[in-house]
Amino acid sequence: MKLLHVVGARPNFMKAAPVIDALNRSNAGSQILLHTGQHYDENMSRIFFDELGLPTPDANLEVGSGSHAKQTAEIMIRIEQYLLEQHPDLVIVYGDINSTVAATLTCTKIGIPVAHVEAGLRSFDRTMPEEINRLVTDQIANYLFTPSPDGDEHLLNEGIAQEKIFLVGNVMIDTLVRLLPKAKERNVRATLQLPEQYGLITLHRPSNVDDPDSLVDIMTTLNQIGDDLALVFPIHPRTRKRLADMDVKTPNIQFLEPQGYLDFVALQSDATVVITDSGGIQEETTYMGVPCLTVRENTERPITITVGTNTLIGKDMDKLKQSVQAILTGQYKSGKNPELWDGQASNRIADIIVNHL
Ligand code: UD1
Repeated sequence: MKLLHVVGARPNFMKAAPVIDALNRSNAGSQILLHTGQHYDENMSRIFFDELGLPTPDANLEVGSGSHAKQTAEIMIRIEQYLLEQHPDLVIVYGDINSTVAATLTCTKIGIPVAHVEAGLRSFDRTMPEEINRLVTDQIANYLFTPSPDGDEHLLNEGIAQEKIFLVGNVMIDTLVRLLPKAKERNVRATLQLPEQYGLITLHRPSNVDDPDSLVDIMTTLNQIGDDLALVFPIHPRTRKRLADMDVKTPNIQFLEPQGYLDFVALQSDATVVITDSGGIQEETTYMGVPCLTVRENTERPITITVGTNTLIGKDMDKLKQSVQAILTGQYKSGKNPELWDGQASNRIADIIVNHL
């Protein structure tokens, strides 16, 4: 079998790494790694390849940034050529980014089967670009690997045949299980001179950072929280650009460049609270038992709320402040680890690919 993995942006890399490893161990066949180039900065891409032990991509389409239509279309045009040269038996795509949907559409039109890792997640919010990417990808992909039972339910409700759906667990947690001990050795807290208790912030969703009023509101609230708790904020390039255009004073927040995987996991594992709008971080904090406050109206990962340590804050900045206080005074829920988030999801995927497909 010739298997081709498509990755494009930061959250894809930690999902592909364990699947590639597991397929190597199962002698599933030859593997090709294609990077679309959606993320291209050293600290948004290259560092993850090094730290996760991902092979150097066999090709990089170098599509870079652009509007959704331009980025998606450019990936489709460039990947089609590559697929026609390579003739893979199966293409494996990850998550919900523009590269995921672009690769899936292109493969399907030229008759190459697609497996989607992290299928079935739904926020039911069609204003999120990722929700559209998830819906389209899952409708047309051939094999759907879900991280939790809600994923199976959504796919069945959307009329997808049961035999295409495989509940395997969470591959992002596979990477976390493998690398958490190594991350813990790094002592980033000491290097950054952070006190014992601190909050870790990440924000990059267009709904939070592209609207100036919303961004000012969030940043002002965070700065107030910073009166009681040290705050550190590794800042996404999209957010950095938005903040550069604004006049908001945040002396209580320590800004950092985007962190590599190991340092970021170390920062999460030691944090008193994580305040985020990321998808993957809701899952990683649940696994590590760290309180997570998600600055979004909805989540495609509800299991992190019902089982884990996550709480949705929406745009309610009073709720954000109160929740931080609850955490600081020991009145926050503790959470458990969802089933099948056990470090073995990628082995299940490799078994299914080798035995069934
Ligand atoms: C993308 C994904 C999002 C994921 C996020 C993680 C889509 C629709 N969105 O959002 O689901 O959570 O990645 O980061 O695919 N930029 C740089 N350097 C880079 C990459 C981006 O400076 O290496 C800047 C550019 O100004 C770019 C902006 O960030 O226009 C946004 O990048 P883009 O890839 O369009 O989306 P993300 O916001 O990163």
